[in-house]
Amino acid sequence: MDSILVTGNGPLNGQIPIAGAKNACLTLMPATLLSEEPLTLTNAPRLSDIKTMTALLQSLGAEVSSLQDGQVIAMSSHNLTSQTADYDIVRKMRASNLVLGPLLARFGQAVVSLPGGCAIGARPMDLHVEGLEALGAEIELKDGYLHARAPGGLKGAVHEMRFASVGATENIVMAATLAKGTTVLKNAAREPEIVDLVECLRKMGAQISGEGSSTIEIQGVDRLHGATHQVVTDRIELGTYMLAPAICGGEVELLGGRMSLVESFAAKLDAAGVSVAETQNGLKVARKNGRVQAVDVVTEPFPGFPTDLQAQMMALMCTAEGTSVLEERIFENRFMHAPELVRMGANIEVHGGTATVTGVEALKGAPVMATDLRASVSLILAGLAAEGETTVSRVYHLDRGYEHVVRKLEGVGAKIERIKGE
Ligand code: UD1
Repeated sequence: MDSILVTGNGPLNGQIPIAGAKNACLTLMPATLLSEEPLTLTNAPRLSDIKTMTALLQSLGAEVSSLQDGQVIAMSSHNLTSQTADYDIVRKMRASNLVLGPLLARFGQAVVSLPGGCAIGARPMDLHVEGLEALGAEIELKDGYLHARAPGGLKGAVHEMRFASVGATENIVMAATLAKGTTVLKNAAREPEIVDLVECLRKMGAQISGEGSSTIEIQGVDRLHGATHQVVTDRIELGTYMLAPAICGGEVELLGGRMSLVESFAAKLDAAGVSVAETQNGLKVARKNGRVQAVDVVTEPFPGFPTDLQAQMMALMCTAEGTSVLEERIFENRFMHAPELVRMGANIEVHGGTATVTGVEALKGAPVMATDLRASVSLILAGLAAEGETTVSRVYHLDRGYEHVVRKLEGVGAKIERIKGE
């Protein structure tokens, strides 16, 4: 298994290009199942999760081609052969469950494996099921699979979600595009990836309004047609690399970044003493004077502080002046990076969903192990700021969500290399 060797090397300066959003692409790809005409995505990120979704769509009979070195994904679902998402693929990636809504809407039936437990908590699918049942689906759990049917087709309805789940919002919105009548989804998630999905669905002929607010209204149509859509910038990759100059010092421009994607996160960096400014080509982040100050963080649905940046922010707080409290409210069990950071000399105490971090003057390089995607990149950030060498193992997690991480960080002066394993 490959590992990443990072050597603390002082301030970082230069530019980092930000890719298209993994989480947007993972919901845009299943949208192809809604139409027999082709859907083409541009600005796609080159990631193993995208390959997993490709394999899943192909297992359903969709044609999926990766063009222009993976940045363009051309898909066609004119000849689907299966409506079953197999456990072997779903267990690799929870986002596989996003084929449920589209398959059900187009074919009146779908069989999708439950994802099972994953490293960052139980992650059930009850909110997806409740929303689709509100649209008239009959869903039962048999042998670990959700069997969903809508013999007479889906029907629009008013439905309020108990919690603004991102994936459930995406599944329900996609399903409602082909339902009869109007659906009003209340307490919908407001993430930019949902706005991106709706913009794409609209290009395919869907009638939707209210995306980005907590009420989304969908007027069902008989069929959707083909479209070409550019995937929105990855705000989590953006936020992660914003932390590179914050933790190491220096000034880095994040190409393609936009403030509107990371407002609450940028506000926390500002409070910590890191400057963030919009430029013509993206965002410029600089830390020039001394250590950052400790700030408290609570993770929340968008527009709050993203859970997917909590681990990386913790790495920054490990070197801050003062004590910060990080409260994780979206996922249980999402502090597995904490003991690894402690191995690098960090001072962290975890109690339930709260981590208290007292900054130390310097972290020390150590061999550490990544436990999930965001945890792995937080260890790389910590390694960049540490004295000596840090080896991060199990980097297959990283390949799920960060393309060319070594090349991007080398480009701003980091000392980082990938070590090939057996
Ligand atoms: C998406 C993102 C993920 C991000 C998360 C929260 C993708 C592919 N993944 O995941 O990177 O961390 O949003 O911003 O877009 N829940 C239930 N029942 C459900 C669904 C969810 O209880 O039916 C719970 C989950 O266990 C979790 C919370 O709701 O505790 C948030 O989950 P959700 O918003 O659905 O996240 P995902 O769509 O899985």
